[in-house]
Amino acid sequence: MAIQNLETHFQEKVDQEIKIEPKDWMPDAYRQTLIRQISQHAHSEVVGMLPEGNWVTRAPSLKRKLALLAKIQDEAGHGLYLYSATETLGISRSELIDQLHSGKAKYSSIFNYPTLSWSDIGAIGWLVDGAAIMNQVALCRTSYGPYARAMVRICKEESFHQRQGYDILLTMCRNSETQRQMVQDSVNRWWWPSLMMFGPNDSESPHSAQSMKWKIKRVSNDDLRQRFVDMTVPQAEILGIKLPDPELKWNEERKHYDFGNIDWDEFWRVVNGHGPCNKSRMEARIKAHEEGEWVRDAAMAYAEKQAERQDVQSKIQYS
Ligand code: 3HC
Repeated sequence: MAIQNLETHFQEKVDQEIKIEPKDWMPDAYRQTLIRQISQHAHSEVVGMLPEGNWVTRAPSLKRKLALLAKIQDEAGHGLYLYSATETLGISRSELIDQLHSGKAKYSSIFNYPTLSWSDIGAIGWLVDGAAIMNQVALCRTSYGPYARAMVRICKEESFHQRQGYDILLTMCRNSETQRQMVQDSVNRWWWPSLMMFGPNDSESPHSAQSMKWKIKRVSNDDLRQRFVDMTVPQAEILGIKLPDPELKWNEERKHYDFGNIDWDEFWRVVNGHGPCNKSRMEARIKAHEEGEWVRDAAMAYAEKQAERQDVQSKIQYS
């Protein structure tokens, strides 16, 4: 079939909400966009473990430590699902890891901010995982089958992440004025970077138009950001916390909250490697990868031994 017809048939499948599977024909540009987005999503999950790991040994109770450990383990699993989904597109795990460590591949800018207090862990759960859920629920309907299915499973766990974060903040706000001020300080620092998680404004997004046509992206960056603001403002009111945006106010006509301008210079500065923690995050990831080489070698040796045993057994069985 001529390439023109292949592309037409492909777009018809997407338009009819037929999932694209690994063995299906797909335009190379579709494949490359998926590799870019899904791998960066996976990198974000794994790098995102670092800021929270900083507080495992300092959690205020055994219960909080257990919840934080469970959340961090979940994030590692999310990374695994997403790396596996990316590998179905014909790229190896080692290539993906090399792209992250060389700086060729991005991860979410949000993880380049430091976690300075325990209430930051609550703010991450409430705001960062809350924003991630908003984005990921939409991605459950993405056109690429393995990505959509990974999202369904990930979203179930993200809800726990968001709730445990909000519970930390609610407890602190009700405990004492000092702790409520800690929460206010955390929210002041995490609010705007959380809005940046949804990406640049639609008018500035080089990928959105094509990604929407291919139904990789189902809702635009700005629409998801607006949904997140509308959902989060009432939750902040329950906490008794003031979101750090003097322009934030309900617009009865639009039936949405109006909010101030995002500092896109800060966004691009952090995305381009000049955030507070970019250097230390990469150093930590590269160190962990190097120190984990023996685990990978052992796992490969075991898998090869197992394959040999099965090979011998099948020869005996059929001889
Ligand atoms: N941080 C870093 N880079 C970002 C970014 C962010 N917050 N937002 C956008 N960018 C980058 C894009 O990757 C792209 O750069 P590239 O061409 O080098 O890849 C550029 O900015 C232009 O942005 P676009 O909006 O045009 O790019 P996309 O169409 O890819 O949209 C996105 C960006 C909305 C983040 C989309 O990629 C997406 O939905 N990704 C899947 C979700 C995801 O990755 N979330 C990250 C957080 S995961 C998380 O929080 C885990 C949770 O458990 C805590």
